[in-house]
Amino acid sequence: MITDWKGKYSNIMKDFEGYSIGKIFKYLNDPEIISLAGGLPSPDMFQKAQMREVSTRLLEDNLENIFQYTAVPGEESLKDAVIEFLKRDEINISKEQIVVTSSGQHGLDLTGRLFLNSGDIIMIDRPTFAGAIVAFQMQNPKIIGIDIEDDGPNVIEYKRQLDKMDTKPKFIYVVPDFQNPTGITTSLAKREALLDLSYEFDIPIVEDSPYRDLRYRGEPIPSIFSLDQKRNGTNVIGLYTFSKIFCPGIRVGFNIGAKEVIEKMGNIKGGNILNTPKYNQDLCTAFLTVMDYDAHMKKCKAYYSEKLDVFLQSMKEYFPPQWGVKWTKPEGGLFLWVSLPSKIDTMKLFYEAIKYKVAFVPGEVFFGENPSTNHMRINFSFASKEQIKEAVKRLAECVKSQI
Ligand SMILES: Cc1ncc(COP(=O)(O)O)c(C=O)c1O
Repeated sequence: MITDWKGKYSNIMKDFEGYSIGKIFKYLNDPEIISLAGGLPSPDMFQKAQMREVSTRLLEDNLENIFQYTAVPGEESLKDAVIEFLKRDEINISKEQIVVTSSGQHGLDLTGRLFLNSGDIIMIDRPTFAGAIVAFQMQNPKIIGIDIEDDGPNVIEYKRQLDKMDTKPKFIYVVPDFQNPTGITTSLAKREALLDLSYEFDIPIVEDSPYRDLRYRGEPIPSIFSLDQKRNGTNVIGLYTFSKIFCPGIRVGFNIGAKEVIEKMGNIKGGNILNTPKYNQDLCTAFLTVMDYDAHMKKCKAYYSEKLDVFLQSMKEYFPPQWGVKWTKPEGGLFLWVSLPSKIDTMKLFYEAIKYKVAFVPGEVFFGENPSTNHMRINFSFASKEQIKEAVKRLAECVKSQI
């Protein structure tokens, strides 16, 4: 009988612990807890009737095809729909520049597998999306994090670090629109400056855009991908998912980029999952083509924007300035970032908050290394407006007990 399984694991996987957020979710089973922890879009925004209608049509008209193996890089019809979808955002690409993924996390996985050898350097913001960190960690890279600023990556510090490196990073990973976890949006000047760095140091930029169309206020800022296209470049790899704008259970997204990069990603996909289910892809095609995208997004924006307002208003009401608590004021997305006085460790506070029947994600999981420990990530899209108010009240009582 094998007793030492660990001795048989690969070196990289031996100490790999997976998605650290996962561990806290087991504390959230109590129905009295109001959770601001998950990254869940609201099911109120699922287009239920249209989803049923399209599903029925697919099952009745095309059952034999939708449950068959299909092309690894993705359905032609979905790629056509994606091309039209991206044109609206001033991105012009061909089908060879798209690989359909089984959602954003898979897009990150393909990126890590394609570029990283063990020990390779990557650069990320501090904090950044924990799922990206965990996806890249599967290749055991050296992660260099640079503290993010109110208007996006600290490009001066990125350059300072790049100037002194002998071996350059394999890529820079950013979430320019309503970043997870902070809600911060990168300014146009910084998007251009990141591209300048990409050209100067010959480093690809991985631009992850799950929230881009969820803008509630302010003017859209061009994606880094589109800015690069204007320079006739192919330095940017764009990662997209249907999870936040359509529904996460469908597990469909797409990566875009230079043809040769995308072809390679398709090859890797063939070795890891083969095809993304056609049924799910066809639903996404319908989402983009016949389910009135504009009307749906208008509804989502109004709905989430109201919840964000309730959250911000409640914070003002329950967190007096003398507590020294600060929070971001995102223009879109699903998250914001609350920073507490440095003596408060939010991992410990999380367990305390559970007693007050409220939950958040401790900020430390969003740092590659040397975590900062006094922040919380708050999701405002899932709880109802009444719950958000009550959750902030409970959070304030909990924080007050620690100040
Ligand atoms: C920045 C970012 N990228 C990727 C993902 C992964 O999304 P998906 O659910 O499509 O795998 C998320 C999900 O929260 C995210 O916030």
